[in-house]
Amino acid sequence: MKLNILIMGPAGAGKGTMSELIEKKYNIAHISTGDMFRNEIKNNTQLGQRASEYIKQGLLVPDELTIEMVLNRLSQPDCDNGYLLDGFPRSLIQANVFDTKVIETPKDVNLVINLTVDKEALIDRIVNRRICRKCGAVYNINTLPPKQEGICDECGGELYQRADDNRESLERRMQSYEVETTPVLTHYKRLNLVHDINASQTIEKVWADVEKVIDEYLAQNTQKEEM
Ligand code: AP5
Ligand code: MG
Repeated sequence: MKLNILIMGPAGAGKGTMSELIEKKYNIAHISTGDMFRNEIKNNTQLGQRASEYIKQGLLVPDELTIEMVLNRLSQPDCDNGYLLDGFPRSLIQANVFDTKVIETPKDVNLVINLTVDKEALIDRIVNRRICRKCGAVYNINTLPPKQEGICDECGGELYQRADDNRESLERRMQSYEVETTPVLTHYKRLNLVHDINASQTIEKVWADVEKVIDEYLAQNTQKEEM
């Protein structure tokens, strides 16, 4: 059964952490717009050069660049079984274009998972985050440390800190979430698609709640398909 999910929440809420677990269990394509942009920057492409200025400052990359990148990605065959969009749509313009393009197609949205956390906890999570350069696995030097400092448990890759993981740019990312992304959440709430998850809990507890939402959706909709 197809499963199309949007995962939302402010910087550091745990979107990437939960996405890794969802991708592994439900076998759907994880599309993180932040990761896609960072990849473009690493490869020094034209898109990467344009996006980098905004990302470093904690501002949203212009809608037209982001929308084109996501629509191209969604047209790839690995999305036919479902997708998990992490960090998109992040503005009402992105949501409106996205809804118009995917509505009445098998790619419309089934669930919106909204991770909620107190602001104080987010700062600690972000400044202590480390990421694997090779496989993208996410660690935290306080709450989820690697077995060996600076080395990824999964693939032995080098761990690094993101260029936008500093207080100044985090402040802007939080502000942009409030101003530009909260209306997107309101929009999907009106469509009864949003499931709020308390993401201030431990990673294990947050994951148990996320799994429950997805499993309940699948159980209800598999029954409907069988009827
Ligand atoms: P993006 O990469 O999406 O960054 P973000 O939204 O700021 O979110 P993060 O990736 O920082 O946090 P996360 O929620 O994934 O948390 P994680 O799981 O890593 O976007 C970056 C930039 O790209 C944007 O600012 C913008 O410029 C641009 N961009 C992206 N999409 C765009 C769009 N659609 N339009 C325009 N521009 C766009 O966890 C964080 C840390 O906390 C980790 O260390 C983790 O181990 C730890 N942690 C996670 N869960 C828990 C828990 N439950 N308890 C304790 N620790 C935890
Ligand atoms: Mg992320």
